Amino acid sequence: MTDITSQTEAALAAIAAAASLDTLEAERLETLGKKGWVSLALKTLGGMSPDERTAAAPAIQSARAAIAEALDAKKAALEAAALEEQLARETIDLTLPALPLPKGSVHPVSQVMDELAEIFADLGFAVATGPEIEDDWHNFTALNMDETHPARAMHDTFYFPDKTTASSNEAVGQQEIGKDILLRTHTSPVQIRSMLDQGAPIRIIAPGRVYRSDSDATHTPMFHQVEGLVIDKDIHLGHLKWTLETFFKAFFEREDIVLRLRPSYFPFTEPSVEVDVGYSNEGGRRVVGGHGDAPGHAWMEIGGSGMVNARVLEFAGIDPAAWQGFAFGLGIDRIAMLKYGMNDLRAFFDGDPRWLAHYGFSPFDQPTLSAGVGARA
Ligand code: PHE
Repeated sequence: MTDITSQTEAALAAIAAAASLDTLEAERLETLGKKGWVSLALKTLGGMSPDERTAAAPAIQSARAAIAEALDAKKAALEAAALEEQLARETIDLTLPALPLPKGSVHPVSQVMDELAEIFADLGFAVATGPEIEDDWHNFTALNMDETHPARAMHDTFYFPDKTTASSNEAVGQQEIGKDILLRTHTSPVQIRSMLDQGAPIRIIAPGRVYRSDSDATHTPMFHQVEGLVIDKDIHLGHLKWTLETFFKAFFEREDIVLRLRPSYFPFTEPSVEVDVGYSNEGGRRVVGGHGDAPGHAWMEIGGSGMVNARVLEFAGIDPAAWQGFAFGLGIDRIAMLKYGMNDLRAFFDGDPRWLAHYGFSPFDQPTLSAGVGARA
């Protein structure tokens, strides 16, 4: 009797002191488990005479009931504590993306295209597009480069095999090169398509891929340009310079951008100017800003531009006596390299995840004029 009472007290004390579910389980096995002392004590009842059993049973039964209740209560308490602790440890921010965290990032070219669109939208420019598989007329002829124009040779054009000869000639490579369908060599054909589509006035930018058979550290067979076209009344070179200056100030997020317009030649603009931007070398990196002739500074070419040639307006069905405008073409990859400090253009298109992890942007880092068009999260 006393034995059971003291054993029960000891068991209840051990249960109360159990600090973990494991200790508690050990205590349960020792008492109510198959070989636990309570179970064994219960078994002894079977071999007793009715009188002995009546005397012994209540103590054992109540010990079992007390221990079982204590085990249940302690188990519930320990589980509740474990849950509390887990809840405190595992805070979840439901505004974050689902796990595993996304590994992809926005390519700098896409980011810069978004930045361009954002800045030019603020200046009233819509985004226009055109096909990358272009025809000779839009890519060259309508841009005042007829078939014999020497400027065509500078474009290192990828032509498609001529359809009629390709189908009748099985030996690929011996196919005669067609001269009609090509990969656009610049975004300028979008000028023509926009003018034909919407007439004057026009204010568009056209970012996109262009192709030339050329490859080294600063040239890849595919690269990106953004075309700009403004057609309206009384447009002059001053508007062009202001537009580019305003764009570059917003793009590079600095006020001291200085542009130099240098006389040049493009068949589709007259006069034509090449655009240089002042820069300095800081720690081996080109940093735009300042006058290119200032000490420690130089000029860097960043694009071509000019007043739209009257011949081009005529090709595109716009009356050059009533309308005029300017156009520009900038290398997107180049201005991306300048802004974000990459030095090899080829790495842009290698698809190396390490490069993307380093130079890529968070999908949440949407450029906005209020938050900054180049702010890294
Ligand atoms: N299309 C020209 C090029 O690729 C750039 C350009 C665009 C020049 C518009 C003038 C006007 O070199």
